[in-house]
Amino acid sequence: MRLSKEFRDQFSQQEMRTHGRKNGFVTDGQEARLLKWLPKIGLSKDKTLNDTHIPKDSPIVMEIGFGNGDFLVYTAQNNPDWTLVGVEIYLPGVAKAVGRLEDAGVIERARITQLPAQFVLEHQVEPEQLDGIIVNHPDPWPKARHHKRRIIQKDMAEMMVSRLKPGGFIQLASDIEELAEWMRDILDETPQLTNVAGKGGYVDRDEGRVFTKFEQRGINAGRISKFLHYTKDKT
Ligand SMILES: C[S@@+](CC[C@H](N)C(=O)[O-])C[C@H]1O[C@@H](n2cnc3c(N)ncnc32)[C@H](O)[C@@H]1O
Repeated sequence: MRLSKEFRDQFSQQEMRTHGRKNGFVTDGQEARLLKWLPKIGLSKDKTLNDTHIPKDSPIVMEIGFGNGDFLVYTAQNNPDWTLVGVEIYLPGVAKAVGRLEDAGVIERARITQLPAQFVLEHQVEPEQLDGIIVNHPDPWPKARHHKRRIIQKDMAEMMVSRLKPGGFIQLASDIEELAEWMRDILDETPQLTNVAGKGGYVDRDEGRVFTKFEQRGINAGRISKFLHYTKDKT
């Protein structure tokens, strides 16, 4: 079984320039699950979040770059009334996460897309529609000439804030100190955001929080992650 080009084109796009791998190996079993679930819970290019039948009054929280879905499943399991919007450009990650969400019995509360987060936020999410945005261990792009590829940029931060409800949150993590500082310095200067730990600060790791693949990879290499938590002003 192969995902047809038409099927894949609904959930991915080539028009917007993004960095990072998009394609890779997906098993037959994973393809079967994608074909089963994406027509139901996929956020395809031609839709907006409003078209995806989110229950009224369900808080809507987006995770950007969910990798293989560790944190998406954990968040869904720990917040039974939330709808989770998972955005990940790497197809094998999407495939793994769909399987995990189904196995955990939480998939009907997820909306999934392989479209880039910048596109989703700009074209598919309304202003003040989200209750929260989570970004864990985004790609560090360590070379200075590649810093513009980092997902957290001034424009992106402003777009994220515009899509958050007043009182909504942004939570980020990184095991790369320089990237954590980069994200903190941008978000600390973004209008309408308050750093919960105070300007320049980090919050403690939430007890019980799942170790994602990239947090664990950092620990294995001797790196302790930093955590950032912001709220959008209520007025
Ligand atoms: C270093 S991995 C971290 C994965 C996971 N969050 C974790 O903590 O293990 C960063 C992920 O962000 C994804 N990504 C990069 N650019 C993206 C974009 N513009 N929109 C959505 N996801 C993106 C990558 O494909 C990759 O899976």
